[in-house]
Amino acid sequence: MELIVWEWVNFLVRWLHVVTAIAWIGSSFYFIHLDASLRKREGLPPGVAGEAWQVHGGGFYHMAKYMVAPAELPEKLTWFKWESYATWLSGFCLLAVLYYHGANLFLVDPAVLDIPWWGAILISLGALGLGWHVYDRLCKSPLGKDDVKLAAAGFVFLVLVAWGLSHVFSGRAAMLHVGALIGTIMSANVFRLIIPNQRKAVAAMLRGETPDPALGKQAKQRSLHNNYLTLPVVFLMISNHYPLAFGTRFSWLIVAIVLVVGAVIRHFFNSRHAGKPTPWWTWGVAAAGMAAVVALSTLGPKDGSDTAAVPARADFAQVEEVVASRCSMCHAATPVWEGIGEAPRGVRLDSPEDIRRHAGQIRAWAVLSNAMPPGNVTQITPEERRLLAAWTEQTADQLPR
Ligand code: HEC
Repeated sequence: MELIVWEWVNFLVRWLHVVTAIAWIGSSFYFIHLDASLRKREGLPPGVAGEAWQVHGGGFYHMAKYMVAPAELPEKLTWFKWESYATWLSGFCLLAVLYYHGANLFLVDPAVLDIPWWGAILISLGALGLGWHVYDRLCKSPLGKDDVKLAAAGFVFLVLVAWGLSHVFSGRAAMLHVGALIGTIMSANVFRLIIPNQRKAVAAMLRGETPDPALGKQAKQRSLHNNYLTLPVVFLMISNHYPLAFGTRFSWLIVAIVLVVGAVIRHFFNSRHAGKPTPWWTWGVAAAGMAAVVALSTLGPKDGSDTAAVPARADFAQVEEVVASRCSMCHAATPVWEGIGEAPRGVRLDSPEDIRRHAGQIRAWAVLSNAMPPGNVTQITPEERRLLAAWTEQTADQLPR
């Protein structure tokens, strides 16, 4: 019963998180595009920095942007903030359901660092809180005056976090936590800077004063960061389904490259929407970056097997033995591992046919990466991985996945 409840809580919280994230990213992309497409012309009302015409849903919209604020505030003003807060809150719940409740399987990997589950949870919370503070300090430091220098410092900081966490958590949790930190930074930017600054500007106006332009400048800088971080954060959030991304030796370097690739793709669209010359070079950089990611992902798992030592042939009886002793306590019709209710992701490995049928997946999850067994709870040895390597090499390519 408890299992069924957790399974559904997991599903519903994930549903909520995906929906709120779509709402947030959607409105954020919309406003970035709108901002970039504003055009000046003669005869705009006082205070209007630009206007745009749009057509949607059977009608025409005429948008005008008042820089700082209009002379008189309208009675009804729509604020965009709950998309962001709800995304963070539901994301944090999902983190807790998956990685705190399931810490022994998904957060801790004793081969990386042998820490108790509660210690790992404290490190996770600390990384999110501290990470935000370091970022915020960087923005408020003298570096923050120069957008390019600040971006470089922020990039180095995030890569250091990715590298550091890869020495603390399982590969999967490490990559997800870089995503969670970026998500926290983005949401905290809205909660701590963008919305409060806007409120201060409105309050100043209501007092009949001109709002301090520095408030708007600061908010704009944080918005710009959120814009460039959107694509990488989505990559990191869905990475946990792809063992070649998170479960290989240089996963932290993959994070670094994806930060660049995501940012240059955003840059392409930002420039285009603003009517600037189209920076086609960005696709070259993105393609080269992704090629490097793919190449890095083939270098094998961290605790990995020396590929030279892979036996030339593998006997299926031995493979069956490894799978029976390291995998099928979970991947069976009725798993015997505590806390596993049914074969995870529908992958059953408790008969020769099932093992053969899943050769490709076994290769991706337990040979090319060390994603399985999770946290190596069943202590598969490098020799056993090499045996799976030899067998899946013979079979995986010929079999349907
Ligand atoms: C302690 C239980 C446990 C053990 C032992 C285990 N797995 Fe898993 N496995 C899981 C769980 C849980 C998932 C689902 C992960 C997720 O939610 O992303 C999973 C997912 C998978 C998937 C992913 C299916 C997909 O496409 O999403 C494959 C393949 C897999 N395991 C293979 C193996 C192999 C091969 C072994 C042995 C070397 C193994 N597992 C050992 C619990 C286990």
